[in-house]
Amino acid sequence: AAAEKGGFDTFMAKEIHEQPQAVADTLRGRIDESGQIVLDEVRMSDQDFRDIDKVFIVACGTSYHAGLVTKYAIEHWTRIPCEVELASEFRYRDPVLDRSTLVVAISQSGETMDTLMAVRHAKDQKARVLSISNTVGSTIPRESDAVLYTRAGIEVAVASTKAFLTQLAACYLVGLHLAQVRGIKYADEVSAVLDELVAAPGKIAKVIEGLDPVRQMARECAGQDRVLFIGRHVGYPVALEGALKLKELAYLHAEGFAAGELKHGPISLIEAGTPVVAIVPSPRGRSLLHDKIISNIQEVKARGAKVIAVCEEGDKIAAVHADFVIETPASPTLLAPLLTAVPLQEFAAELATALGRDIDQPRNLAKSVTVE
Ligand code: G6P
Repeated sequence: AAAEKGGFDTFMAKEIHEQPQAVADTLRGRIDESGQIVLDEVRMSDQDFRDIDKVFIVACGTSYHAGLVTKYAIEHWTRIPCEVELASEFRYRDPVLDRSTLVVAISQSGETMDTLMAVRHAKDQKARVLSISNTVGSTIPRESDAVLYTRAGIEVAVASTKAFLTQLAACYLVGLHLAQVRGIKYADEVSAVLDELVAAPGKIAKVIEGLDPVRQMARECAGQDRVLFIGRHVGYPVALEGALKLKELAYLHAEGFAAGELKHGPISLIEAGTPVVAIVPSPRGRSLLHDKIISNIQEVKARGAKVIAVCEEGDKIAAVHADFVIETPASPTLLAPLLTAVPLQEFAAELATALGRDIDQPRNLAKSVTVE
């Protein structure tokens, strides 16, 4: 069993370390020398992609969080309206779908019943379904019109890590491809983002090399009865994913919030010493977003929170305001989740280990849920 884990104590640790390679595998062969995204295997023509006037993303759990990130990217790059919905809610709501709607179903296993039912509903309504899955030949890809495989390799730990990062990479490819075939006004930005996407595996590896302080921080938080996560823009879904990891692994009350919502309720949860993990966007460019989260950090600190900031390396302002900083390499805002999600995986795993939990097989959870 030790050999199967490649020298790591758990499958989750092994899978966290496999992420740079997994993301590289997702991208491999899908970007040509001229910087065009080639998704031939998907079985959707450029014209098919041009005919779309609305995107719906459906997924569950961690895959849903990948979908939330994707909404920001697709709307910004393509100007096509995009909605994200929990697959278990989708068909009961009578969503507005037609032939020109693209439904993107994200499912690592390709077998999640909630997501499969959402796909069937979408097909009944004549929408076109593109699935993003890690499992070749599984049910959801078989029932979809088109599929993009993530190629993460088998993920054994129940809590998803490398599958999540590769879902993000695959979703970025879809968004950028949509932008390219539709001839968008952000052509320069899209090619710059593509270069950054190709550079992402190296940066993820750098984040993984720097995880020791995260582990120490996690052990220090092990006596707490709750941990809160806050973020804005794509940092918000990352906050949700950080909280989900901690719930899954440590059985701790963890919650992610859009930082702007703190003042509308959740800030009352803060007590002296409550850990708050803040996902801080790059201080460059969209500095307004950065200013806003710094003031959220000040608000929770004033109520006694212990703030752990996940920020870009060299972010001096975050360093001044937070109690503890976890630095990630610089990246365009929309791609940052590929980096900022990683320390949160390690944080959850280490905190759960300190509490004596079973990291690979948390109680009550299953890797793939095939009932509705
Ligand atoms: C289960 C797993 C989660 C996963 C979710 C969706 O609940 O425990 O880790 O995110 O299913 O799975 P899928 O295979 O559809 O991505």
